[in-house]
Amino acid sequence: MTVLAALFSVQDRFDDSLSFRYSCRGAVCGSCAMLINKVPRLACRTQVKAVLEAEQMELRPFAGSAEGVTWEQGEEVLVEPLPNLPKLKDLVVDMSRFFEYFQKVEPVLKPGEEPPEHEYAMQPQAVTELEPYTNCILCASCLAACPVSGRNQAFLGPAALAKLYRFAIDLRESGDGSRLLQANTAQGWWACEFHTNCRAVCPRGVPPNIAIGKARAELQKSGRKAPEV
Ligand code: SF4
Ligand code: FES
Repeated sequence: MTVLAALFSVQDRFDDSLSFRYSCRGAVCGSCAMLINKVPRLACRTQVKAVLEAEQMELRPFAGSAEGVTWEQGEEVLVEPLPNLPKLKDLVVDMSRFFEYFQKVEPVLKPGEEPPEHEYAMQPQAVTELEPYTNCILCASCLAACPVSGRNQAFLGPAALAKLYRFAIDLRESGDGSRLLQANTAQGWWACEFHTNCRAVCPRGVPPNIAIGKARAELQKSGRKAPEV
């Protein structure tokens, strides 16, 4: 039984007012992310048995991990709403800030030249490079586990930065570095402290910490690091 199925069971048998989000039930839509035993996970992909039997995942302290709720590990599964976003009801959080920052990085392809008549041809290596960043399902688990996002509401956050980097290295864009400059601010690339919880909890293996590190290195190397950061 998955945690999502368990929540349906709770709703059916004990409390039909229990609120939680879901849609695809197949780890595709990203809407069922919640804190499960103090780790952000997708409820539809998380097996109750596996959580009961697993060792607790080691993460750097973040807002949700610090709250003093106790539960009997191995006997009970603790479910809580994602931290770092305002709670609306039960397991449902307000995702507005997450999506606002995601939109801020303009997550659409901006071709550098007139698109070709037929398809773009890309070398496999270029595709391999950007592919990990295309797998994001916007679940906000990374933002929930990020210690910086927890105390700095202005930080763009791991998902938005990973998506921005994905376009910065896309050879179909201009490659003039303007994408990197979009987050060349104290609340963009430079706010990250590399706790790497984002990478550890991402259900799709997206590595925002790698994207941020590479973006910073590139800006530094080209002498374009913003003076105020
Ligand atoms: S990067 Fe991973 S954890 Fe963050 S929103 Fe995307 S899928 Fe979720
Ligand atoms: S219900 Fe869609 S990811 Fe879980």
